[in-house]
Amino acid sequence: MNEDAAWTRKDLIGIEDLSREEIELILDTAPQFAAISERESGIKKAPLLQGRLVVNWFFEPSTRTRTSFELAAKRLTADTLTMTAAGSSSVKGESLHDTLANIEAMHSDIVVIRHNHAGAARMLAERHSSQIINAGDGAHEHPTQALLDAYTMRDETRRRLGDDQAGLDGLRVAIIGDIAHSRVARSNIWCLTKLGATVTVCGPKTLLPMGIERMGCRVTTNLREALEDADVVYVLRMQLERQKASLFPTIREYVRLFQVGRDALAAAPEHAIIMHPGPINRDLEVASDIADGPRSVVLDQVSNGVAVRMAVMHLLVNRYPKGEPATPPSRA
Ligand code: NCD
Repeated sequence: MNEDAAWTRKDLIGIEDLSREEIELILDTAPQFAAISERESGIKKAPLLQGRLVVNWFFEPSTRTRTSFELAAKRLTADTLTMTAAGSSSVKGESLHDTLANIEAMHSDIVVIRHNHAGAARMLAERHSSQIINAGDGAHEHPTQALLDAYTMRDETRRRLGDDQAGLDGLRVAIIGDIAHSRVARSNIWCLTKLGATVTVCGPKTLLPMGIERMGCRVTTNLREALEDADVVYVLRMQLERQKASLFPTIREYVRLFQVGRDALAAAPEHAIIMHPGPINRDLEVASDIADGPRSVVLDQVSNGVAVRMAVMHLLVNRYPKGEPATPPSRA
């Protein structure tokens, strides 16, 4: 990894904005942070964000992403604040800009925001000096999820091929389920195609957005066909809360045609791994025994998420030219 490579963005809003080199810089920065989290003895911390303030601002429910960002910030020794919609003045009608201006008056450095409106993170990033990380904006993008997924796929591929330099070029990834409402699918398609992987999306017609192939992926409504040559089977959560109408006949019908279960997986190569961003609707989009089975790397995704978010925060604060380089605390 090029330790001195510059990071030139104030914010991380979407994968669509990033070049392959920028994505690779993040992925190559993450292993040193994974190593910190894996320390068996000693302190699982590096003082790279000491004295910085990281605010987690979440308007939608979240377990993994919120705790992952919080832990990543803490492992970098930042101060952290968490604000959720329910407890904040947005319920009294305060605008996002006003709330952020007040947070900034307390000298925030990084603001991690999850919001139900697509574009919320970008809108704030353009008007405010805080460094904004998009933790999911509506059905638009969820960049750190795609980055941790790419990291996990690269790790697994390197292990499988015994090649610690392998990238994602030529990797075949099948993304299955509710593509239409999924910011994870969009960020993953951008990320994987930029890294040279081949992406196939598969789901019922009503859950495949029109024109999705223009993002550079193959499209099919046949699960078997999608799985046939897949190195990675990426299952999406059915976003029932975002669906405004009934988009498939019945759960039973969906399960019969699209659930990733033992029978469907028989079509996939033996080495194919199973991924899911969580939270899982067990026995809906994926069979429980598959989600928990030996081919599932779902919990590795979670572990890798902390390292990748540490890498992103480190690059934003310490490699973006405006930021002052972090100096380790004096031992005097
Ligand atoms: C995803 C999200 O919120 O977009 N979850 C996550 O961040 N791990 C996926 C989902 O909710 O289905």
